[in-house]
Amino acid sequence: MALVSTKKMFEMASKNGYAVGAFNVNNMEITQGIIAAIAEEKAPLILQVSRGARAYASNSYLKAIINVAVEENPDIPIAINLDHGDTFETCKQFVDDGFTSVMIDASKQPFDENIEVTKQVVEYAHARGVVVEAELGQLGGIEEDVVGVEDVSKHIADPDQAVEFVERSGCDSLAVACGTSHGAYKFKSEPKLAFDVIAEIGDRLPGYPLVMHGSSSVLREFVDLINKYGGDMPNAMGVPEKSVSRAAKMAICKVNIDTDLRLALTAKIRQVFAEKPGEFDPRKYLGPGREAIKEMVKHKLQVLGCAGKASECM
Ligand code: 13P
Repeated sequence: MALVSTKKMFEMASKNGYAVGAFNVNNMEITQGIIAAIAEEKAPLILQVSRGARAYASNSYLKAIINVAVEENPDIPIAINLDHGDTFETCKQFVDDGFTSVMIDASKQPFDENIEVTKQVVEYAHARGVVVEAELGQLGGIEEDVVGVEDVSKHIADPDQAVEFVERSGCDSLAVACGTSHGAYKFKSEPKLAFDVIAEIGDRLPGYPLVMHGSSSVLREFVDLINKYGGDMPNAMGVPEKSVSRAAKMAICKVNIDTDLRLALTAKIRQVFAEKPGEFDPRKYLGPGREAIKEMVKHKLQVLGCAGKASECM
């Protein structure tokens, strides 16, 4: 089956109380690790490419890798999304290049301007069968060139604005700032996500898919391995998995994960380098890294509740 849009996935996720994992890909090993997990767990999948990933690996390589994944897994619905498109032109380029979903992130712009550019992307994308994610409120942390706000609690999405934004822009899903943050240093103390905001927007837009960015849990096992084997990641902290699960049962239908993939890969590579200092065959350290990604993603699919849901999303 060819790449699909996120329409059916979100419809089923919303109806049946789970979220679909959206994982960022930058190379072959990361993609293969994710794909091996979803093939075993029979879960729907969103693969995401950022502008940074495309600059690193090139669109043709990434698309070719993803196309192989799609061909080899005809029983799994797979969507491909542009993560954090910053302008209409960027989004247009990704639509033209065959992405089935694009995100326009104009959340730093004033409300009306955010709506205007989102509407422009929606018009272009919908005419070509592509769905659009937009963002309201602002996240913290840093993701490549996307620099977030310092105090996330002051930039939580406003439910009145969320309803107006969706109605006026026509976007297919909305990323709502709810207290999360990109990267490995999300919080200084126990995080408090704005579940009340998610619940209120969910009640006022029944069945409408919300998206949670910055959802990595910064898993202890990987941070500990990194620190044990020469890394330096003190105070790394993510979103507790129980909070991710709770959000996934509510109106959140898409959960973005990048940092946890990076941590799994880095931890395993560091371990191999430390335990076998003479190793210089990339397959011998990228292979274990890929395996760690697979196991981590399998676990995430359980946290999100989407394991076993591939067939209902076809
Ligand atoms: P993390 O940094 O928490 O993995 O979030 C990634 C993300 O939201 C990509 O858009």
